[in-house]
Amino acid sequence: MKIETKLLNGNELANKIRKEIIIDIKEKILKNKKNLPNLGIILMGDNFSSIRYVNNKIKECKNIGIRTTLIKISKNSTEKVLLKEIEKMNKNPLIDGFIVQLPLGKHINQNKVILSIDPKKDVDGFHPENFGKMTLGMNSFYPATALGILTLLERNKIEISGKYTVVIGRSIIVGKPISILMSRKNLIGNSTVTIAHSKTINIKYYTKKADIIIVSVGIKNFLTGTMIKKGSIIIDVGINNISNNKIVGDVDFKSVYGIASYLSPVPGGVGPMTRVMLLKNTLKAALNNR
Ligand code: GUN
Repeated sequence: MKIETKLLNGNELANKIRKEIIIDIKEKILKNKKNLPNLGIILMGDNFSSIRYVNNKIKECKNIGIRTTLIKISKNSTEKVLLKEIEKMNKNPLIDGFIVQLPLGKHINQNKVILSIDPKKDVDGFHPENFGKMTLGMNSFYPATALGILTLLERNKIEISGKYTVVIGRSIIVGKPISILMSRKNLIGNSTVTIAHSKTINIKYYTKKADIIIVSVGIKNFLTGTMIKKGSIIIDVGINNISNNKIVGDVDFKSVYGIASYLSPVPGGVGPMTRVMLLKNTLKAALNNR
């Protein structure tokens, strides 16, 4: 028998949080006659998806009153050139926080790049100082997508404590941070977490038992209805371009619908939550830095 699947509306919730940030900017920045927050973005290369994400991030900032400073460098630039741009952002007092859009070209050492970002300006939360603090349950910048997922669950009053969560994917952007946050000893946490990935044998064995599945593998229709149990909560983090202006997630929406109790759609689920969490981190950086 089919059950009712509720869609987790990321657009609606992101709108609500945007309004909260606008109030914070008014109360904490403008009232104190401080400059508006300024987010730096370094975009290297011409990856179609990266350009689109960056344009969306800039649009989000504009709509809310956060300034942006975009530095574009060619995909053939050397690592030295990229590190120089990062150093300029680190030293520029007018930049509150910044991100280096990933992925980077194969000739660039991503770890070296992450390590070169000033942790105080690392609004992506990828620097080991921030990532480590997150792991230890300390206050720091948390990666936006993970924070977005957690907020989507929390604000929809979905209990995660004691639930069995399977995270599929182990990237620093999604899989690793969300698995840490779901399992931490906190008001929002206390989930039992398994991380599955491309080398996991028989993923279905785990997903069939899961109360919550967070999937971020970049393969359309990866998670199907036969892989999940009735009533499970499915969070789709995938963004797969199937044509110029159509994207789908990693979940086979049709086959999961009617089996899952909650499902985050693509588009309109985790994506807008991620963008709004970057705004939140930028505001946090601005308040910290001044
Ligand atoms: N590429 C895809 N998602 C992200 C993100 O959250 N931060 C950065 N820097 N690059 C990304």
